Amino acid sequence: MFNKIYDWVDERLDIAPIWRDIADHEVPEHVNPAHHFSAFVYCFGGLTFFITVIQILSGMFLTMYYVPDIVNAWESVYYLQNEVAFGQIVRGMHHWGASLVIVMMFLHTLRVFFQGAYKKPRELNWVVGVLIFFIMLALGLTGYLLPWDMKAVFATKVTLTIADSVPLIGPAIKTLIAGDPTIVGAQTLTRFFAIHVFFLPAALLGLIAAHFIMIRKQGISGPL
Ligand code: HEM
Repeated sequence: MFNKIYDWVDERLDIAPIWRDIADHEVPEHVNPAHHFSAFVYCFGGLTFFITVIQILSGMFLTMYYVPDIVNAWESVYYLQNEVAFGQIVRGMHHWGASLVIVMMFLHTLRVFFQGAYKKPRELNWVVGVLIFFIMLALGLTGYLLPWDMKAVFATKVTLTIADSVPLIGPAIKTLIAGDPTIVGAQTLTRFFAIHVFFLPAALLGLIAAHFIMIRKQGISGPL
């Protein structure tokens, strides 16, 4: 049945070259751990991507129950965690994944740094990587507030106070991201929610696409 559907689509849109380009792409021997065990260091970019996909999928399901206002946020998370079928596991994946993805990204960055893989011609991809790095940290920061418990609110107070203390532009930055004169208030939660689920993921997807296009164009860096 699937063969028939595939042939039907392929006849009309000629999709074979698209997936062949991905599936038949040869990877050099020096990145294959079966040949050189130390090549396992090349897995961290892929693992970062894998967890990022899990974060996006689990996050999409979380938004089906999460209510982004200060009266209902905490209770909506409590309900999701304790009453909703599979709620605990979906929230758990998003919670632990958020830390694990930072660890994997950090190991990937160390690999690229210590192998000098950021050097010509890959400087631009390093810059894209640095932007991705900041976006991932910002995702962690904005997501942390969403459960709206004491830990979330007071941790965010600390970060916003730090932002506020930056000379000259600090107060403007703080007002922009908190949107609320009381440091952490109703507007801060809705703003962090919007940033966490729309602004940052959109930017992240664009940057990851750029990252992968450049890797395919330049190939993986050579053996040491
Ligand atoms: C969501 C985060 C990221 C994902 C999913 C990702 C994914 C990948 C993947 C799959 C590769 C192929 C090689 C490998 O896996 O080691 C790669 C290569 C590369 N990444 Fe990332 N990456 C991320 C973040 C970063 C960061 C934070 C940096 C640096 C600041 C960076 C810089 C690079 C560079 C320069 C290469 C080319 C390395 C080479 O050709 O040897 N990436 N990335």
